[in-house]
Amino acid sequence: MNLIDVYSSDSAGILYQLLEERTPQQSISHKAMPTRREHENFIASKPYTAWYLIEVDGEIVGATYLSKQREIGIFIFEAQRANGYGKKAVSLLMRKHPGKFLANIGPENGPSRSFFRKLGFELLQLTYVHE
Ligand SMILES: CC(C)(COP(=O)(O)OP(=O)(O)OC[C@H]1O[C@@H](n2cnc3c(N)ncnc32)[C@H](O)[C@@H]1OP(=O)(O)O)[C@@H](O)C(=O)NCCC(=O)NCCS
Repeated sequence: MNLIDVYSSDSAGILYQLLEERTPQQSISHKAMPTRREHENFIASKPYTAWYLIEVDGEIVGATYLSKQREIGIFIFEAQRANGYGKKAVSLLMRKHPGKFLANIGPENGPSRSFFRKLGFELLQLTYVHE
């Protein structure tokens, strides 16, 4: 497995495909699908400390990032899940950027909750919002 730096590669197209697979439960920060232009501007603004495509045997299977607040984001294409790729990618990310990590997971995202628990994360708090 290789982690490919999004900021120094042409990654917008594949990252947009990942966004198209995302369901509302899987993102608590972005609800609406951005346009392709908005998406490209977002990447160009370098929003995260680190952002990687996950490559396995020459194929991109997903993406992972570390936000400036030390939050981890991970998305594996549905067809590539349950192969251990998510766990390996997050472990690599954590090794590259040692320190404290957070993961913000929606309450209905059971798979991700068990995923992060298996990586040794503990429940810190429940955050409520009123909009
Ligand atoms: C959560 C996600 C990243 C898991 O990736 P994955 O590559 O399928 O997970 P892995 O195969 O590496 O599994 C790692 C561990 O998590 C557990 N796990 C993964 N998916 C699970 C699921 N759907 N239900 C329960 N446990 C699950 C596995 O059993 C495995 O445990 P093990 O270490 O005991 O074998 C993937 O389902 C995904 O991309 N989901 C959509 C995006 C998302 O919700 N991201 C989280 C918000 S940042």
